[in-house]
Amino acid sequence: MNTMATPGTEKITIVLATGNPDKVREMRPLLEHVSPLVEVACLRDLGAEIEVEETEKTLEGNALLKARAIFRHLSGRLGYMIALADDTGLEVAALDGAPGVYSARFAPMPDGMAPAYEDNVRYLLERMQGITDRAASFRTVIAMKGRIPSRNGDFSFERTSEGSVKGTIDLERKGTEGFGYDPVFVVDGRGRTYAEMGIAEKNTLSHRALAVKQAVADLKIIFQTHDLPAKLSTDTHEPR
Ligand code: IMP
Repeated sequence: MNTMATPGTEKITIVLATGNPDKVREMRPLLEHVSPLVEVACLRDLGAEIEVEETEKTLEGNALLKARAIFRHLSGRLGYMIALADDTGLEVAALDGAPGVYSARFAPMPDGMAPAYEDNVRYLLERMQGITDRAASFRTVIAMKGRIPSRNGDFSFERTSEGSVKGTIDLERKGTEGFGYDPVFVVDGRGRTYAEMGIAEKNTLSHRALAVKQAVADLKIIFQTHDLPAKLSTDTHEPR
């Protein structure tokens, strides 16, 4: 399937504002059914090379920063689009909510090198040594910035949605699926780590899935409220 949206196509493109293929794999199937008018593309599908530095101090701030930057970057190229960005943090109670917004950059590294997933997991387990309170939660904030057609002309909007899941940090890694801290995050009520679940099961309950489902519900309301035509005609949306 050609997911590349060019001016004149009849779709609204939801652009996943991430270069992380693990996240794309999780989010794409949840978003594909939002409307027949929608196609889902990631930055790589669009050949868009843009890195947005996460400089805000909150998940919401960073998600909005990314959604706005990607929207700006692609706005002239895509007629109707929704830039969708997520920011996720693991919040560990005994560490006063760390690593939180700094989850990607938790482990100290030499010379400003970026830690790999494994570096962060190892550092987390070290920091948790001897700590009996293992409670933690994963939280995702999704921000969307979009422009869609409506009966009264184009409609622009911004929305955020959130999902969180409670769990505990295991004493050791378990499972081989997923990414990031998945091997050590045991989901409350399941007794298994995210890494012991396949993507399909993770997507029924995860922090990111809950946030995406809320975003989908919000989009459906926006589409209904703005009386989105059942089919876009090619002459109603020009590139801006
Ligand atoms: P980001 O800033 O949203 O990319 O997420 C920060 C870090 O949190 C990532 O580098 C991962 O290490 C971790 N992370 C994000 N989402 C997940 C997840 O679903 N499972 C496990 N770790 C995650």
